[in-house]
Amino acid sequence: MGKLTFLPSGKAIKVRPGQSVVGAARSARVVIPQRCGGHASCLMCRVVVEAGELTPPTALERRKMPEKDLNIGIRLACQAKTTNRDCIVRLPENKLKNVVQAALERQRMEEED
Ligand code: FES
Repeated sequence: MGKLTFLPSGKAIKVRPGQSVVGAARSARVVIPQRCGGHASCLMCRVVVEAGELTPPTALERRKMPEKDLNIGIRLACQAKTTNRDCIVRLPENKLKNVVQAALERQRMEEED
């Protein structure tokens, strides 16, 4: 069994080899956005492997993802599976969340003035 850690939250979960990253995330209560039901077509479930390893990119991932992205460790969480080694993946920042946080920060600063 390996450990899969999700950044930026730092939530971690023990995983069996061959478990999908999306499935492991669900078990760890980490939300990875997805729209295509895991068919490698929406590309919303991209994660970045920061350390450790996952299974090599699938044929579907190689077809859908630019090679340069795969080379720097960007993977589709619906396709990538765990191995028996530990792994750390980073979820991209949520753009909507960033917009809301910036608006709240602006509002807070206006209220302080
Ligand atoms: S869930 Fe759509 S590409 Fe992974």
